[in-house]
Amino acid sequence: MNKDFLALSDWSLEDLETIFTLTRELKEKQKEGTPHKLLEGQTLGMIFEKSSTRTRVSFEVGMFQLGGHALFLHSGTTQMGRGEPIKDTARVMARYCDGIVIRTYSHQAVEEFAEHCYVPVVNGLTDLYHPCQLMADLYTLSELKEDYRNLKYCWVGDGNNMANSWINAAAVFGFELRVATPKGYEPDADTVERAERAGAKLLLTNDPREAADKADVLNTDVWASMGQEAEQKERKKAFAGFQINAELIELADPESVVMHCLPAHRNEEITDEVIEGTHSIIFDEAENRLHVQKAILATLMAR
Ligand code: CP
Ligand code: NVA
Repeated sequence: MNKDFLALSDWSLEDLETIFTLTRELKEKQKEGTPHKLLEGQTLGMIFEKSSTRTRVSFEVGMFQLGGHALFLHSGTTQMGRGEPIKDTARVMARYCDGIVIRTYSHQAVEEFAEHCYVPVVNGLTDLYHPCQLMADLYTLSELKEDYRNLKYCWVGDGNNMANSWINAAAVFGFELRVATPKGYEPDADTVERAERAGAKLLLTNDPREAADKADVLNTDVWASMGQEAEQKERKKAFAGFQINAELIELADPESVVMHCLPAHRNEEITDEVIEGTHSIIFDEAENRLHVQKAILATLMAR
């Protein structure tokens, strides 16, 4: 078992499915109001350098439901924000907290933090990966379809942290994944190479229709991620045609489902009609952030 949860590619299928089993148990307990204080008396430190609604709230609420406490720190108000070395902050935080969640830009910074921090570190999103979101997404699909690993997955949009995480997931879970991005916005080349070496069934294309053809799961995300706000205008032009809309869904399997990690720019990467439509499982996906992250924390932190 790993100390940290930084990337899906660090974990085995067996361990991730064990987390899903615990997720199911904890979700059931939470729904029936049965206490499940697996982390009583423990404190989760949460360092955020970027904005968040779902990640922050689901970790804070989850920690409370597990009988522990969550401490939210916006990095700008800490000494880290004034340039204190990551390795010093990591060593000090480990002496106060029982686990850490970090959301920041550089994935290497999170790896460095984890290396110097002797308590578990969870990646709450970096420019490269968003593994907790992927766990919620796949858990949501596992609730809908027992054979979720045999479905055809499709990504339409930016080759960003979510696309990279889907590629890691394709390698670990063994499903077929087609990724359609505009030219110049392809996913991380190292991630693709490592996934392919690990046997991932990937198709990279610049044609959203090819990716969506008979797909069971359609997935997208914003065209400009946090930190790319200045590129918003040029990206809007480059991504024209990379929208999940009724026409694209027509090409997919009639029973297909549509996912989006949120927040969405409605009528850019996905239409308002699709978010509210019958194929959308977007809000169940958001809810499952809570349940799956509780299982991740309990797996890493339980004594
Ligand atoms: N999906 C997700 O991580 O949302 P937040 O940015 O609101 O945390
Ligand atoms: N790709 C998005 C995901 C937000 C949850 C971003 O990094 O801003």
